[in-house]
This record gives sequence, structure tokens and C-alpha cells, in this order.
Amino acid sequence: MLFSTLTVTLLVTEVIHGLPHTYFQSRRHHTLKTEPQFTEKYFTQILDHFNFNSMVNGTFNQRYLITDKYWKKGYGPIFFYTGNEGNIWEFALNSGFITELAAQQRALVIFAEHRYYGKSLPFGKESFNIPQISLLTVEQALADYSVMITELKKQLAATDCPVIVFGGSYGGMLSVYMRLKYPNIVAGALAASAPILSTAGLGDSRQFFRDVTADFEGVSPECRNAVRGAFHQLKELAEQQDYSQIQATLALCKPPSSAQDIHQLNGLLRNAFTLIAMLDYPYITYFIGKMPANPVKVACETMLSGSDLLANLRDTAGIVYNATGLLTCFDTYNLYLECADPTGCGLGFDSMAWDYQACTEINLCYESNNVTDMFPPMPFTERDREVYCSKRWAVVPRPDWLKIQFWGDALSSASNIIFSNGDLDPWANGGVRTSLSSSLIAVNISGGAHHLDLRASNEADPLSVINARKIEADLITQWVKMERTRIQSP
Ligand SMILES: *[C@@H]1O[C@H](CO)[C@@H](O)[C@H](O)[C@H]1NC(C)=O
Ligand SMILES: *[C@@H]1O[C@H](CO)[C@@H](O)[C@H](O)[C@H]1NC(C)=O
Ligand SMILES: *[C@@H]1O[C@H](CO)[C@@H](O)[C@H](O)[C@H]1NC(C)=O
Ligand SMILES: *[C@@H]1O[C@H](CO)[C@@H](O)[C@H](O)[C@H]1NC(C)=O
Repeated sequence: MLFSTLTVTLLVTEVIHGLPHTYFQSRRHHTLKTEPQFTEKYFTQILDHFNFNSMVNGTFNQRYLITDKYWKKGYGPIFFYTGNEGNIWEFALNSGFITELAAQQRALVIFAEHRYYGKSLPFGKESFNIPQISLLTVEQALADYSVMITELKKQLAATDCPVIVFGGSYGGMLSVYMRLKYPNIVAGALAASAPILSTAGLGDSRQFFRDVTADFEGVSPECRNAVRGAFHQLKELAEQQDYSQIQATLALCKPPSSAQDIHQLNGLLRNAFTLIAMLDYPYITYFIGKMPANPVKVACETMLSGSDLLANLRDTAGIVYNATGLLTCFDTYNLYLECADPTGCGLGFDSMAWDYQACTEINLCYESNNVTDMFPPMPFTERDREVYCSKRWAVVPRPDWLKIQFWGDALSSASNIIFSNGDLDPWANGGVRTSLSSSLIAVNISGGAHHLDLRASNEADPLSVINARKIEADLITQWVKMERTRIQSP
């Protein structure tokens, strides 16, 4: 979904997991101005914050990245990124705005990795077994961050330094929750592209794929028609059970042979459009996979490049799954995993952790229907989720819990939160789009995809994101000032 869908090929992920620095260096040519120079460290974290007698009264090593390059020691604020569902290096290397802002405001920067992701696995490879997985909750993750901030402030002689949290996507949700649950620790939050309403069950199950479709329609209605037409052709071939034709045209490694195989294929193809829409940045990005500049436009050019719609569909999927140009055929069950998140769970260990979260607290029941969107009908109801989750993880989701625990849309008594959203981002309308008070500020980024504002400045940035970052910087300056006053008053 939110982020982990981006884990596009195991090959690439392995390289990044094993060699973050190599990845970083290869990227140097593409970043501007600030080079973060993070140091990678581990924090001894409590395994279970909410049970003093549990069988797991131990600790685990939680990874974090830190740089004091810009910090006015003992005085400057702390900018803390509440890591989301993946390797923390990915977020650090794709959130250059935070270090740019740290340079201006002389802040210490910390990126903390979420438990059960990347290298922060409480039980190693056993982490994804039942019951070890059960310590993966939003509440435990927030407590991790609060304990880590408190402890690191002591270690770094920074107890009076105001803390601002940052996050994108699910990380943005965590930033909001940090401010709601731990205002004693966190003075304010920048929540970029955080779908806190839809994930709490406050939304329309058609919204997500409708908004993905709108991006392609925005390039041209012909583009949307071509996508719909390609899925229609695929449906007809499947109905005729012309599986060898499907295999040949779509370059599949194995011919499909059942309705389930066709369903899987549709899921893989739909996921390519999801990613292209989310990552519709105006310049080339390396957010795990490589994406061309303006990928929605590139996809539409591909969809309209010849009369064979299925061949065009194959090549459009190739933008995501064949970014390396090394893929010889599409292995439908290995390139995409169906899970409790219809917008994708990614691959590898991270995908298991995200699937579990989508099966417990985080509600992602989105459907496509070929009426309000251009994709084949693929329902995913709360009932479907229940059936899947009890089978996969022996859990029953609690669809109301997130709204009870983290306030849903009843946010008026909160303060100091920025909700930023780009209008190209299919997650945007699952979040807060209008300001709720003078300190709960919604920022719109016209022409912006998924948390564009958190990325480093780029020559191709639209004016809207330059303005958004200014507004964000000013609010954060204010909050830091307010917090100093609060800390200093007896
Ligand atoms: C929990 O910690 C206590 C105190 O160190 C220890 O005596 C006990 O054996 C631990 N329990 C488990 C199950 O590890
Ligand atoms: C992947 O891209 C390469 C280079 O463009 C191309 O030759 C190959 O056919 C593509 N693979 C698939 C499965 O489409
Ligand atoms: C989508 O709807 C159109 C119009 O009703 C229909 O012709 C087409 O077959 C549908 N496509 C799929 C994939 O179901
Ligand atoms: C942002 O855009 C949305 C959708 O177009 C609109 O409803 C909302 O009022 C805008 N909010 C602000 C703060 O401009």
C-alpha cells in the first residue's frame, strides 16, 4: 500500500537491504544540496511496553539513523521521522526536505525504523510466526518512538530540545498519533499524505481506485479508455480460456489455467497503475524501484502507442516490474502478493508485517468495480478481509479500533499538526483535506503525488510544493518557539 507496494523486485530489495551505502552513493548524482550523512545505530528497545509479566520481557535491537551535522548542540530542535513499513534507509533517502529544514533550523535529525520492518526484527526470522507477530501493533510502535526519544534526549544532553515528528503515508499517520498520544514528548507533527480517515474506516471503499483512475483520465480520457479496453480484452480471452494467447501477449512465465490465476494477473496489473499514480513525480525517482519522470504520462503514452492494447498493457506493467529492463517474463505469483491490502503489500518480510497490520488495526478495504474506476471488478469487503485474516494470521480484524484509539475525524481538541496532501495522490482523499483549527492545518499541493513535500528540493518542483514547504517550515518554527516557552516556564 502506502509504501510497501514499492518493493518491486526481490533482487533490487536485497541489494538495498544489504548495501544501503552503495545505494546511497549511486543516488548521489540525483540529490541536490544537502547530503544527509546518517550514522546507522541500534537502540535497545523494550519488547512489550504494555505487559510486565509477559513471556517476552526482553528487549530487541531497533535500528535508527542519526545526523547531528546541522544541530546546534543541546539547543536546536530534534526532527524525528516516525518510520513506517519498510527499511528506514528508504525513507531517509527519499525525505530530503527534513534534512534541508534541519540545516535551516539547526536541528538534530533521527529516522527510526518501525518494529518488524527492515532490520528491526524482534525475533529475527521467527518474528513472522504466530504468536511472535502479536507484538506488532501501532501502539507498540508509538511507545517505541516515545521511549527512544526520551532516552536519546538524555544520552545527547538534549532534554530541553523541542521535538517535531515527521512522517509520510503510514509514517504520517504515526506522526499524527504521536502528537495525539504523547504531546508531553512531541511539540508538533508534519503528516504528509497520511490517510488517517480512510484507514479508520471513515471513507468510501471506491475512493482509492477511483482516484488512481482520475490521474490517468487527467492525462486524457483516451488513456483511461485504453486501459479499460485492455482489461476487457483480457477478460474476453479468459472467458474463452485462450490461456496460451494471454501468456504470449502478456509475456507471462507460465500460462494461466484457472479463474484464480486470472484474478492474480489482474491484481498484478492493477498494482502497476497504483504505483505509477502514487509515484507520479516530475523527475526520475529511486524509491526502491526506478520510476521515470511523470510516469502517469509515460504510462498513457505506452497505453496509446499501438493498436494492440494487451501489448501496451504489458509494457505499461513493465514500467513498474521491468524497470531494470532485465525481466524476461512476468511471474505473476512472485512479482505481486495478494494480501489484506488491495493496494499491495510489497514483497519479502516487510510484506508479511504489513499484511498483519492490515489484518488487525489498519482498514484498507478498497474495491475496484469497472464503473467508478477503469479496473476489473475486484471486490474486497470487510467480510472478505475477515475470512482472509482468520485463515492467514488467526486473527479477526477490529474495524472500529483505530477510530476509537486515535480519534477518527473527531480531532478538534488536538493541535499542532500539518496534514499535507498532493492532489495526484490516490491516498489524499483518505486524509484530512481542510484545516480544522488554527493549529490543525491542511495543505494542498496541486500537481503533487505521494508526499512530494517530504522529498528534497528539485529543479522540477511545481510552485505548489515550494509554497507548501514554506508554510510547513514557518509553522514548525512557531511550534519550536512555543515549546521552548513551555519547557522554560516553571
Ligand atoms: C523476566 O525477567 C525476570 C527478571 O529479570 C526474570 O526472572 C524472568 O525469568 C524473565 N522471564 C522470562 C520468561 O524471560
Ligand atoms: C523488459 O525490458 C526489456 C528492455 O526493454 C525488454 O527487452 C523485455 O522484453 C522486457 N520484459 C518483459 C517481460 O516485457
Ligand atoms: C467493464 O465494463 C464494460 C462496459 O460495461 C464491459 O464491456 C467490460 O467488459 C468490463 N470490463 C471488465 C474487465 O469487466
Ligand atoms: C484542498 O483541496 C480539496 C480538494 O480539492 C478541497 O476540498 C479543500 O478545500 C482544499 N483545502 C485547502 C486547505 O485548500
